[in-house]
Amino acid sequence: DASDIEKGTYPHYMLKEMDEQPTVIRKIIQAYEQGEDVTVDADILKALAEADRLYIIAAGTSYHAGLIGKQYFEKIAGIPVEVHISSEFGYNMPLLSKKPLFIFISQSGETADSRQVLVKIKELGYKALTVTNVQGSTLSREADYTLLLHAGPEIAVASTKAYVAQVAVLAVAAYAVAKQLGMELDFDLKQELAIVANGIQTIIDSKDEMEQIAEDYLKIARNAFFIGRNMDFCVSLEGALKLKEISYIQAEGFAGGELKHGTIALIEEGTPVFALATQKGVALNIRGNVKEVVARGANACIIAMEGMEEEGDRLVIPSVHELLTPLVSVVPLQLISYYAALHRRCDVDKPRNLAKSVTVE
Ligand code: G6P
Repeated sequence: DASDIEKGTYPHYMLKEMDEQPTVIRKIIQAYEQGEDVTVDADILKALAEADRLYIIAAGTSYHAGLIGKQYFEKIAGIPVEVHISSEFGYNMPLLSKKPLFIFISQSGETADSRQVLVKIKELGYKALTVTNVQGSTLSREADYTLLLHAGPEIAVASTKAYVAQVAVLAVAAYAVAKQLGMELDFDLKQELAIVANGIQTIIDSKDEMEQIAEDYLKIARNAFFIGRNMDFCVSLEGALKLKEISYIQAEGFAGGELKHGTIALIEEGTPVFALATQKGVALNIRGNVKEVVARGANACIIAMEGMEEEGDRLVIPSVHELLTPLVSVVPLQLISYYAALHRRCDVDKPRNLAKSVTVE
């Protein structure tokens, strides 16, 4: 449909695509629903259930989605997972398990680094599942199985709605295989994803706050740090990548506990530090890390999940199931990056030196 690839009244595709995220989550629920549940095709369920280990292969933002996917397959379905950067896997292959299944995550389905790995593992006789936004793409055609993202065309170079779709589809696959394996699950994913869609909408509706955060923290910043623990760590990596890609501010995402092992040396008066606090088990620890950077002059922006907020937190995001927090916590980081890039008059949709899909190795 033509409206999918037109900006309409939006100044940028990126803004339009961020706005579409609640709809994308709802489309995924619809596309994967079967009766009261969400699930995937029987042959994919079988392939996942029979594997003794999953190898997730991806690049860029898709790699960051893979890090969350690992947690889903391990925590929900009890299947061990390794996540690898495509370009490294090609020549630095780990020892493989007896019955591996490869999962390629690629928005475009065309990334050469990932395709190179797919060709190699097919030669070795292994099976592959591609999670992609583009039906009929190279990685989809050459894999044994495909799961579609249903995110609609993503035009902006910086990936937003595709990342959220990747994480949601990986949750669906992990949940479905857990059920297939007869595991007792204490939550209803379909319902929890609907709550996520509403949560994202609430954030989208309060964009102004993110614009103000970008103004307050990033207007004159040379660099910025993103910290988190557990799932928030994975989202910190994506938040830093987003900011680098479109605003050209040097940014680094890392685990809260790693601060003291090096990066804290970079904290100066006014250095922006974005800290995510959505993970209950480590809430105290991440707040401890924030105190450490603030004591050294950092300008800390705490983004906390509702119910875990404390006085002085800059942004409170709606509460969702603990495993699904990346789907909502990434959204303010996307918006903050967008506004930081706008304030610096950067070409948001077509950042310098970057391509939407990289078809050379
Ligand atoms: C390019 C894009 C990134 C993307 C990466 C992987 O570098 O600029 O936004 O994350 O490729 O793309 P894929 O289509 O495989 O997800």
